Amino acid sequence: MIYISLYEIQETQPTNSHYRTLICSSLILATTTLINPFGSDMNCPRDWPEPIVRVQSLSDSGLGTIPDRYVKPPTDRPSITAAAADVNIPLIDFQRLLDGGDGDVDPGVLEQVSEACRSWGFFQVVNHGVRPELMDQAREVWREFFHQPMDVKTAYANSPTTYEGYGSRLGVEKGAILDWSDYYFLHYLPSSLKDHNKWPAFPSSLRGVIEEYSEQVVKLCGRLMKILSINLGLDESCLQNAFGGDDIGACLRINFYPKCPQPDLTLGLSSHSDPGGLTILLPDQHVAGLQVRRNDQWITVKPAQHAFIVNIGDQVQVLSNAVYKSVEHRVIVNSNQERVSLAYFYNPRGELLVQPMKELVTPENPPLYPAMTFNEYRLYIRTKGPRGKSQLAIGESSAKSPR
Ligand code: OGA
Ligand code: NI
Repeated sequence: MIYISLYEIQETQPTNSHYRTLICSSLILATTTLINPFGSDMNCPRDWPEPIVRVQSLSDSGLGTIPDRYVKPPTDRPSITAAAADVNIPLIDFQRLLDGGDGDVDPGVLEQVSEACRSWGFFQVVNHGVRPELMDQAREVWREFFHQPMDVKTAYANSPTTYEGYGSRLGVEKGAILDWSDYYFLHYLPSSLKDHNKWPAFPSSLRGVIEEYSEQVVKLCGRLMKILSINLGLDESCLQNAFGGDDIGACLRINFYPKCPQPDLTLGLSSHSDPGGLTILLPDQHVAGLQVRRNDQWITVKPAQHAFIVNIGDQVQVLSNAVYKSVEHRVIVNSNQERVSLAYFYNPRGELLVQPMKELVTPENPPLYPAMTFNEYRLYIRTKGPRGKSQLAIGESSAKSPR
């Protein structure tokens, strides 16, 4: 992989000089960005360009070498430098927030979140209000689903038109190098997009568990939105309102990373930033795999017991006018353990225009991004093919970027 990672700031429009281009390019296959909420009427291929191969089936077949189409170019392959081995993302305890109820926000916690958002874009949170048993149940019902017979799973096979259901690739580029994972994607909010029939019927407890889990995670997101708003110097409801108030988007992607005979040659999920607002990741309790890019290193996250991993998505980068930045991350796999993770994406309502909040724009801090709906944003990336953080390149006239 070629990794051209650095931000370049340049004027692109002399006549409208406050629009600058923040070019952050990296030629990496990004992922979540490909989900199109509209259906087939958006100039979107109706089917995958090649027959779908389930990575879990490949893994179960016991092959000793992985097929060429999972082999990443040498620069993309996992490498762990000694210096990064004992670094971890910040860990924040929300207990004092819970004790104070919804009305009271502890200044110490605010400060920790502020620092984590500014310097990492990623943090872990414990005592977040989601029941630990529910977290375990949520992960384990999905593990059970992935261990159902193949015909049970393929009954939910997805297509590139909506991505909803059981899938094994992201992106529709013919001949693309693929990631070593399968996934399941579903909508929780807005309620008009939620359809329990598109959620697996097996195991039979799954729909109930995921309904309750979703409710609690969405509540946690509401709390996080308040904290971020206050930390940005805004009224506590500002960010939530910018997302659409009560009418926001929330969707879940369950990632299944099967054992891999040659983990050094591939990735479970290629480098990307999350296109939405905030992501709440429930990692596998026992198997590490998530890596966060920090400067020139990949830091492997060591999950704390019953912690969620929270990260800033592209839409919060836009709304905060880059006070907070989404950060690239990826997943490595291993040869002796499968890994399951649940990524909850909390997003602005699709039709709302998202742009730097006016309170954060001043003559010294002109808006870095033009207004765009989240639907357009995702569509662009789905169509052009996402590349790391290149979707946040901005500038009205750039043929290569939506912003
Ligand atoms: C994602 C993601 C990380 C993981 O789904 O967007 O980054 O650990 N997942 O599975
Ligand atoms: Ni992600």
